[in-house]
Formats: sequence, structure tokens, C-alpha cells
Amino acid sequence: MQNDIQEVLYSEQQIQDKIKEMGEQISRDFEGRNPLVICVLKGAFIFMADLVKQITIPLELDFMAVSSYGASTKSSGVVKIIKDLDISVEGRHIVIVEDIIDSGLTLSYLIDVLERRNALSITVAALFDKPARRSAELDADYKGFVIPDAFVVGYGLDYAEKYRNLPYVGVLKPEVYSQ
Ligand code: XMP
Ligand code: MG
Repeated sequence: MQNDIQEVLYSEQQIQDKIKEMGEQISRDFEGRNPLVICVLKGAFIFMADLVKQITIPLELDFMAVSSYGASTKSSGVVKIIKDLDISVEGRHIVIVEDIIDSGLTLSYLIDVLERRNALSITVAALFDKPARRSAELDADYKGFVIPDAFVVGYGLDYAEKYRNLPYVGVLKPEVYSQ
């Protein structure tokens, strides 16, 4: 698995340090608001687990799964809800936890859905931002790292469902997905 990685972009420690900062900021901003923190599966599952441990105020959490890429490395623009929320978003302050924003299509679709369900506010926390290929007008309120336009894996992020369990984030060797 390690042999498929061309370069480590962020180490486990760098990621944890950044998440601590993000958690502290969210704790300050959402004091007294009992936010509903929504994890976008599957990519954000490790980020979600680490982030909520760094948030020191009461919160509720839930999970949602959407499809965007399948086994390809480009967004199809078609987003489908695979698993919906259990908790109602109506009148709630929502924090969407995403692994990475690329084209922005997935998130803008999700935000649209939650707005139509009458969420009180919607805020986005994304660990990675890849602005190079953005097609939807959208930015994260809490952002971990801005990364170049390379396909990255690890720390929840996959290529064809592999590499999610790497504790760091790295760039995949191009020959892995071009063969
Ligand atoms: P969009 O284009 O809708 O994409 O913003 C967001 C989703 O696409 C996935 N994605 C990636 N997954 N390495 C991955 O493993 C990447 O470099 C990458 N870029 C986008 C991811 O699931 C994200 O939620
Ligand atoms: Mg994702």
C-alpha cells in the first residue's frame, strides 16, 4: 500500500495539529447553539471522529452518504443520496464535515438539500480544499489545507475504496490509476 504513494503531503501529526485548531474555532463559534454536525460518508469518517473530539461544546452528530465519483477520479456532477440523515435539520445550526472540496458539486447539492429542509444555518468544515477545479461557487468556512490539483488518498480518502486507512495523506502514483 505504501509503495503506491508518490509523496506524503501531510503527516499524521500535521493533520492532528490542524484539526485541533479547527475544533477550537468551532467550539468558540457555536457556543450555546448545540450544532448538528453532519459527516459526509465515507471520505470524512476519520476527520469527523478526530474533529468532534476537539470540539468542547455540546453537539449532536449524524451521517449522510452521497455518491459522486464511483471508481473514477473525476466528478460526474451527478449526486445521489445513498444514506439519509436520522435527525431532522429543521431549525438547527448545521456543520457539514467534508473530507475534500474539489469541483464543489457535491457540497453545493448538499447545502441545497439542507436549505430546503429549513436548516437555520449551514456551515462547512473541510479538511482539504482543491480550488483548481472548482465549478460551483462555494468556499469552506473552516478549512484545513489548500492542496494542489493532484489526486490524494489516505486519512479516509480512497481510490477505488483503497487507502482509506493510511494515517497520513499522500499523492497516489499516477501509474496506479492509469493502468
Ligand atoms: P466535488 O468535486 O463534488 O468532490 O467537490 C467532492 C468529493 O470527491 C471526492 N474527491 C476525492 N477523493 N481524493 C479522493 O480520494 C481526491 O483527491 C479527491 N478529490 C475529490 C471526495 O469524496 C469528495 O467528498
Ligand atoms: Mg467525500
